[in-house]
Amino acid sequence: MTDPSRQAHWDNVYTSKGETDVSWYQNSPTPSLDLIALTGLSADAEIIDIGGGASRLVDTLLHENFGRLTVLDLSGAALDTARKRLGESAARVKWVVADVTTWQPLQTYDLWHDRAAFHFLTDQGDQSAYVERLKQAVGPAGFAIIGTFAPDGPERCSGLPIVRHDATALAAKLGDEFGLIDARRHEHTTPWGAVQRFQFATFRRH
Ligand SMILES: C[S@@+](CC[C@H](N)C(=O)[O-])C[C@H]1O[C@@H](n2cnc3c(N)ncnc32)[C@H](O)[C@@H]1O
Repeated sequence: MTDPSRQAHWDNVYTSKGETDVSWYQNSPTPSLDLIALTGLSADAEIIDIGGGASRLVDTLLHENFGRLTVLDLSGAALDTARKRLGESAARVKWVVADVTTWQPLQTYDLWHDRAAFHFLTDQGDQSAYVERLKQAVGPAGFAIIGTFAPDGPERCSGLPIVRHDATALAAKLGDEFGLIDARRHEHTTPWGAVQRFQFATFRRH
C-alpha cells in the first residue's frame, strides 16, 4: 500500500468505529505496562508509542507521572480520539501524525513501544525502513518493546494482511546492536470475546 491509501484506511477505521469496536481495544494495556515496568525506566524517560492509535497506554503512563511522552500514528483521527479523551492532559503529550516508515526522528528516546503496528509492514523494504528509524530513534542503552501477532496468531488485522513474528525473527531484524531481554506471549481477548495470540519482544540497545 502507498502512504495515502494506508492513511485513508486507518482514518476511516477510527472515524467509522467507536473506541471499543476495534479488535485491538484494551481497557488497560497490562502487557505493555508490565514490560515498561521491567525496563526499570524512571518517570523522566522519553517514551514513544509507535502506531499508538487511540490506545489508553498514554493515559496510564500520564497517570503514573511519566512526563515525556510521544504518540506517533499514521492516523490523525486516531490521535484526535486520544486527545479528546485526555482533555487538558493531552497538552502534556507530543502527538505526531506520520508513517513510521518515512518519519524522520528529531530526537532520541529511552523507550520505543509498538503494539500491533509493525506487523502491518508486509513489505521487506518497509520493515527495513522501520528498523532504520528505530535505530535512529532509540538512544544508547534504550529499550524497544514490539508486540505483534504470534506465529499462531491471526493472519489479518483490521481487514489487512499482517506478518506474524516470533522473538527470534524480530531479533534478527533488529540486528546485533539490540539484545533480546524478554520474550513472552499474550492472549488478547477482543471486545467480542475472540482470543488473539500476541508475541511481545523486549530489546535493549548495547
Ligand atoms: C491495530 S492498531 C493498534 C493501535 C495501538 N497500538 C493499540 O494497541 O491500541 C495499529 C495502529 O498502527 C497504526 N499504523 C499502521 N501502519 C502504520 C505506519 N506505517 N505508521 C504509523 N502508524 C501506523 C494504525 O493507524 C493503528 O493506529
